[in-house]
Amino acid sequence: MKPADRNKALACAVEAARRAGAVMTRNQSAKKTIQSQTSHDIKLELDVRCQKLIEKTLLATFPASAILGEEGLAGPPAADCRWVVDPIDGTVNFAHGIPHACVSIALQERVGGAFRTVVGVVYDPFCDEMWTAIRGQPARLNGKVIRVSQRRELKQCIVSIGFAKDDDSLRLNLPVFNALVRRVLKVRMMGAAALAMVYVATGRFDAYIESGIYLWDIAAGGLILECAGGEFWHRPHPTGPKFEMLSNNGRVRRQVQAIADAARKEAGRR
Ligand code: IPD
Ligand code: CA
Repeated sequence: MKPADRNKALACAVEAARRAGAVMTRNQSAKKTIQSQTSHDIKLELDVRCQKLIEKTLLATFPASAILGEEGLAGPPAADCRWVVDPIDGTVNFAHGIPHACVSIALQERVGGAFRTVVGVVYDPFCDEMWTAIRGQPARLNGKVIRVSQRRELKQCIVSIGFAKDDDSLRLNLPVFNALVRRVLKVRMMGAAALAMVYVATGRFDAYIESGIYLWDIAAGGLILECAGGEFWHRPHPTGPKFEMLSNNGRVRRQVQAIADAARKEAGRR
């Protein structure tokens, strides 16, 4: 996609995020229809409705693109570019009327055999905060350039932690929580991965760690973080199409990773 098209893609993703965000704010305190529920997750009828709305907006302007969304696929699978969409990130918060949830939309281009994120949008409709990035340009929050924090001392840092939907994530991350909470200023667990990542990009948090996270949770936030000077460290998770991820300000990864590794090793011995 040419640079001019990336601007057009960003505008289109912003429009789609605002439309879905309007549905979320209208329904914040409404009783929600639950489509399915597992031990650590809820799926709402509104998740699907918001994805459909986003798909319609994106495909109207980019009919040849594909969609990889938390709520399903659309468009031609062999397309050269695809949108990676989380229509409501933080669904459990949203289902309980907690106004901490967002829309996450990334555009990825096919480069060789892989996809590379070139546009990212994360929108918190409850605070009306819109994070945007185009690869190679500074990240922005409501139009203003943002940067990660400068903090290096863990004692000064806020580290956010996420627990994914499976028991494996609890097993891996509970020891990390226990170890980190003694070493950093505060640990936070807010329940919307994409928002935690853009909070790192904005310097509100210094790092965010989660294991067992999906591409739609992290694609847009990862680009925004990198464009804000941060480090989007991630690698495929041993089980399934998921990732281990440690988003950070580029200054604390080694320290946080060392604490996490030691805590998991220790837990494995017990
Ligand atoms: C979840 C949230 C949660 C994170 C999970 C995600 P969803 O996304 O971002 O904070 O810990 O890994 O799957 O289900 O609310 O879209
Ligand atoms: Ca999500």
